[in-house]
Amino acid sequence: MFASFKSIGAYVPKEKLTNFDLEKMVDTTDEWIKKRTGIENRYIAKEEVTSDLALKASEIAIKRSGLAKDDIDAIICATISPDYLCMPSTACVIADKLGIKNRPAFDISAACTGFIYLVTIAKSFIESNLYKNILIVGAEKLSSIVDWSDRNTCVLFGDGAGAAVISATEDKNEAIIDTHISSDGEYQDFLITPGSGSKNPCSQKVIDENMAFMKMKGNETFKVAVKTLTKDVKDILKKNKISANEVDLFIPHQANYRIIKAVGDSLKFDKDKIVITVHKYGNTSSASIPMAINDMYESGRLKKGDLMLLDAFGGGLTWGSALVKFNGEEIK
Ligand code: ACO
Repeated sequence: MFASFKSIGAYVPKEKLTNFDLEKMVDTTDEWIKKRTGIENRYIAKEEVTSDLALKASEIAIKRSGLAKDDIDAIICATISPDYLCMPSTACVIADKLGIKNRPAFDISAACTGFIYLVTIAKSFIESNLYKNILIVGAEKLSSIVDWSDRNTCVLFGDGAGAAVISATEDKNEAIIDTHISSDGEYQDFLITPGSGSKNPCSQKVIDENMAFMKMKGNETFKVAVKTLTKDVKDILKKNKISANEVDLFIPHQANYRIIKAVGDSLKFDKDKIVITVHKYGNTSSASIPMAINDMYESGRLKKGDLMLLDAFGGGLTWGSALVKFNGEEIK
């Protein structure tokens, strides 16, 4: 049995936060943010929580898969901004909101690489004949873990969700070709929310020192990201004897335009094959790749049979890449 990428869906909350809005909140400028990151806007969820964003993306993905909710055998969510810190998992809440009962539902934590980890897990479950249809969701309300007084991080992130259905197929031509995931905990302090876990349990100190919010060593992360991603995408192409020319769309994690450009240029991709959505949404962590896939699908640039090269890098540090044939039906 093979695993195929059957459908995609995404959702962004309504409220837009521009660079000009941020100029009024911290010591920054539209020019700095655009030049250093490519970001112009991001969307912020007000009343909605992570599972609400995930629900809307999931409903679209399930509808586009042509399946009924009851056909979904498992629900897996990647998030670093779950509804609840420890339990229940956001996946359980999503399943409940979808009205799906008596199915496995769990979260994974791989920061911005979350969606590549999800594709890998779903592919393995299907190839081992455990399940036939798996809903994977990358969903983030990062605005809830951003320190809005820290200009180093608050300009970078946004909220959103993207979901996909991965289904069993007997046709190898429809299959997800390969995925690769990895990590190096030596760099755990590059991207970290130091407070509220077992190391620094919730306390007045955690609150006073803003320890429950994301901290990032941006410049150090940038350098490791470019080096690691460049090697990772080259390795997965080489391993599968696929040339960069055969890839229809390069859909990387949307953290920084300069990282995407550096990796894309190293593979000598045509400009129009490199997907950029970071200007619209900012960095939405585990949601960024499925949101970008959805943008391509809805704009008609991603068609059934197209080969996508996905790559991502994030807190952990984690990274990964995937060669994925898109097997979704055209939007009618
Ligand atoms: N506005 C104005 N100035 C700023 C801002 C801001 N918002 N933020 C930082 N600066 C200043 C810094 O204080 C510094 O000033 P100094 O030279 O006087 O000390 C200067 O700008 C340069 O700072 P750098 O950190 O060196 O800037 P850099 O070019 O590296 O850009 C950025 C910073 C955008 C964070 C970049 O390093 C980056 O994108 N890093 C990688 C992020 C990433 O990929 N993360 C992984 C995924 S995220 C996840 O997993 C959740």
